[in-house]
Amino acid sequence: MTHSFRINGRTVNTEVPLETSLLWVIRDELGLKGTKYSCGIGQCGACTVHIDGVATRACITPVAAIENKDITTIEGLDPDGEHVLQKAWIEAQAPQCGYCQSGQIMQAASLLKTYPNPTDAQIDGVMDGNLCRCMAYIRIRKAIKLAAEQTSQIQQSTKAASAAAKSGGR
Ligand code: FES
Ligand code: FES
Repeated sequence: MTHSFRINGRTVNTEVPLETSLLWVIRDELGLKGTKYSCGIGQCGACTVHIDGVATRACITPVAAIENKDITTIEGLDPDGEHVLQKAWIEAQAPQCGYCQSGQIMQAASLLKTYPNPTDAQIDGVMDGNLCRCMAYIRIRKAIKLAAEQTSQIQQSTKAASAAAKSGGR
């Protein structure tokens, strides 16, 4: 049976058994290696992607559950790898070995949709299921706050520019 879904904006048709996990389709069929395999049982967050905008563990999601859905992997978060979170991650020097980090960033992107200016407790609550064996949690939290601040500054500048353009047009 053919399964159809969109990944990072392109339509994909694949023929794999219904129970095949999305993680293996992403990595083996499509060659997108940014999404990582670690525990394989939904307990570590290394395989986190977005399905219709919601952070989801790809290792426990069968292709049967993603028919006609929109999937975003770390490669699709920003076409140039310059998402505000990716830039903040670099600025905060968040990764150590790096293995967990694409899952952390995808979870953080989901977090910022719900909490644009998250508190430490909100960050810890949402990021709780994303494990890091290198214990980079403090730097990850710092990167998330940095991304939130930068997003807020960008929004304020955009608003100010838009207000200036409107008043200039009067
Ligand atoms: S590999 Fe999917 S949650 Fe650990
Ligand atoms: S940076 Fe090594 S597991 Fe998180």
